[in-house]
Amino acid sequence: MAKKFETRLVQSGRAGTKEYGFVNPKLVRGSTVLYPDIATKQALGKRYLEQVALYGLNGTETHFALERAVAEIEGGTHCQIVSSGLAACTTPLLAYLKSGDHLLLPDSVYGPTRTFAETLLARFGVTTSYYDPMVNEAQAAGLFQPNTRVLFTESPGSHTFEVQDIPALARVAHAHGAKLFMDNTWGIHHFQPFTHGVDVSIQALTKYGGGHSDLILGAVTVNSAADWAWLRNGALELGQYASPDDCWLALRGLRTLNLRLKAHYASGLAIANWFAARVEVARVLHPALPSCPGHENFLRDFSGGCGLFGVVFKPEFSQKAVVAMIDALQLFGIGASWGGFESLVLPTAYSIRRSAGSGVFEGAIARFHIGLEDVGDLVADLEQGLAALRAA
Ligand SMILES: Cc1ncc(COP(=O)(O)O)c(C=O)c1O
Repeated sequence: MAKKFETRLVQSGRAGTKEYGFVNPKLVRGSTVLYPDIATKQALGKRYLEQVALYGLNGTETHFALERAVAEIEGGTHCQIVSSGLAACTTPLLAYLKSGDHLLLPDSVYGPTRTFAETLLARFGVTTSYYDPMVNEAQAAGLFQPNTRVLFTESPGSHTFEVQDIPALARVAHAHGAKLFMDNTWGIHHFQPFTHGVDVSIQALTKYGGGHSDLILGAVTVNSAADWAWLRNGALELGQYASPDDCWLALRGLRTLNLRLKAHYASGLAIANWFAARVEVARVLHPALPSCPGHENFLRDFSGGCGLFGVVFKPEFSQKAVVAMIDALQLFGIGASWGGFESLVLPTAYSIRRSAGSGVFEGAIARFHIGLEDVGDLVADLEQGLAALRAA
């Protein structure tokens, strides 16, 4: 009988309930692996696509356990752990693209992924065009050039939360012989990438995977042996590696992912709805609310969400007023990243870079991450934050 997600999350990456030994996989740190003789070394060396300990850089049992758990969550066949969420965006791009190729990036993509395309990829002869994340299937077809090899998606988009029509974009990409990459960090578990046509799924485990704001880690998952071969080769050629200590912590974090996501999502939605009813607010950019671009795609494709969303303030409130509100908040930390147990806030203006004409909003935006604190306490803090907004 197929096991439910909650059960698989508890069991994946472990030896099994009937094996002799500790509950959790060992934390293995190591560089050199010893072989009994040269013949064994040469035979094992050919097995670098498998989870076999060959040299520390190829991964230890701790990395392999996390890779099995993430592949299970994403619903793919193979996962490669890399050093950061950003490396999970850049590694498959570098592994797959070559000089002369063309890349399509959504206008709402995570800023450092955009910077990577404009600097390193450009230096290596890869050209990039940006597209409106809300393009429909026919408009998407018009974006392709003969040399387009990757249609990159990130859904919902960074800071502005556009939910993309991934199945339609996958159809167009495949019809043009291109791969569909997706940064699926927001939708972890609640968006199953491979049942929606994605070829390469990216997770910044730094966020909800780890869940405690104490590690930096990324994961790239694929769903075929052919995609695994180029991804794994590329990661090894680049010397991609992550600390086994961080992998062990991430595995520990994943065991409670299901419960944490439920709590973040419920509290986040409660606060998003509270904001939506406030006179200071033009609209809330939460995928589960109709005011968010692509809400219909969210309803069709996602089974839930997390605690990250945006609030667009009415035009009469300046960027300075939004900063005054943020500075007044006591329970919301001011800081990058998200997915930890704590609430965070950032003004979005400094993070939005657009070149395809998308992302025009009514006023200044702030991004909120709702942590595991009491919702009433957070609302009371937000009340006094909005008083500072009005007074500014
Ligand atoms: C959507 C998204 N992808 C990737 C990353 C990069 O993750 P990391 O901070 O682990 O490099 C982030 C970080 O904020 C992100 O929000």
